[in-house]
Amino acid sequence: MLNSAHAVPTFVIRRGTPADAALLAEFGARTFREAFAADNTAEDMAKHLASAWSPSLQEGELRDPLLDTLLAVAPEGAPSKNTPGGALAGFAQLRAACAPACVPTHKPIELKRFYVDRPWQGRGLARELMAEVERVAQRHGARELWLGVWERNERAQAFYRKCGFEKVGTQIFVVGDDPQTDHVMLRTL
Ligand SMILES: CC(C)(COP(=O)(O)OP(=O)(O)OC[C@H]1O[C@@H](n2cnc3c(N)ncnc32)[C@H](O)[C@@H]1OP(=O)(O)O)[C@@H](O)C(=O)NCCC(=O)NCCS
Repeated sequence: MLNSAHAVPTFVIRRGTPADAALLAEFGARTFREAFAADNTAEDMAKHLASAWSPSLQEGELRDPLLDTLLAVAPEGAPSKNTPGGALAGFAQLRAACAPACVPTHKPIELKRFYVDRPWQGRGLARELMAEVERVAQRHGARELWLGVWERNERAQAFYRKCGFEKVGTQIFVVGDDPQTDHVMLRTL
């Protein structure tokens, strides 16, 4: 609940289910566009959004046993339901997958996506979501968490460094037709 105009409401962080597919698709596309549209061409952005976000794509992800989706949602009746994302304020996805060679580990898990809606950035929700990501990763028996973050996304890099991640290499992430360089960051659990 909101205690004051500047307080962060108490969000519930829960597992996403296939019933969340449309909500996640809308939220994921919007927050990606808001974060990166200014630094990409309209063509690359449209191509990427079409390839990554739709209710059917997210339904497949939410049914994928190798992917964990965590949703930070406002409790029923909370005033924060009036924010642009409605009940949803952020999400994270963890993927049990092979790590790039620069990740020196035998028990890796990837933080595939990590997004907090603008009204809640800088207000502590990202830390709460990261703490839950770490708990889920540990339940999987992972010893390290790794991620890719665009070399130009300095805010996210600063946040990840605050959470104990360090740069260990680079990888390419293609947005539309643009092969971009991501920093690969790693932290032990
Ligand atoms: C990345 C994200 C989850 C971080 O959550 P957040 O609530 O914004 O994080 P915080 O505010 O706690 O930390 C960000 C830090 O970066 C700093 N910062 C802000 N803008 C910055 C910039 N341009 N360059 C460097 N540091 C910057 C902030 O001051 C803050 O540090 P501080 O706490 O020491 O003041 C959130 O910003 C987000 O969802 N961004 C859009 C999507 C995205 O980029 N996701 C990550 C994809 S890999």
